[in-house]
Amino acid sequence: MTDSYFPKPVDVKINMTTGELDSPDNAYDRKLSQMYTMYEDQEAARELLKTDPVIYKVYEKKLPELPGELQWCMSVTLPGKVGREYYMTKGHYHAVRETAEIYLCVAGEGYMLMETEQGEVDIKKMRPNTCVYVPAYWAHRSINTGGSLLISFCVYPGHAGHDYGSMETRGFQKRVVEIDGKPVIIDREG
Ligand code: F6R
Ligand code: ZN
Repeated sequence: MTDSYFPKPVDVKINMTTGELDSPDNAYDRKLSQMYTMYEDQEAARELLKTDPVIYKVYEKKLPELPGELQWCMSVTLPGKVGREYYMTKGHYHAVRETAEIYLCVAGEGYMLMETEQGEVDIKKMRPNTCVYVPAYWAHRSINTGGSLLISFCVYPGHAGHDYGSMETRGFQKRVVEIDGKPVIIDREG
């Protein structure tokens, strides 16, 4: 530990109904225009781009990017669909692959879709009070299949970082779409 680095305790109030923090260091909205190419139905995406809806929001505390520290944030995915495909996060690997993450779902319903670089896929249901452990090496994406906000409290190692490019290039192998009023997990075509 150097003289210039000595961690200080932090406490923050969380609104569990909206996912908002009372004093986030960073808060951002991810709009459709920033991720529309990820959806299967490009015609539906283009139509929706006229209003460019917010797909998800993140409220973060910025903490030291060091292995012994933790980052944490609230991830809030809005309800909605692009065509038949539910709103979802972009999804990413951690830049430092050998770092895991915990998602504690506090509201809403949906899925955590996960995939390794070797092509293994897993998907876990997210509901209030469900904790999903995303192991090291797994890309992860939240998908909101309900009619209200899907809110999770996320914690991961301080130095994890984010690699969006790899998953943007490769694409997740599965999609979650509505068929006959229900969420169905399908293979990605193409
Ligand atoms: C952090 C993490 C989450 C996501 C959030 C938004 O490592 O997994 O906090 O950052 O759910 O999703 P992305 O980052 O994929 O846009
Ligand atoms: Zn992550």
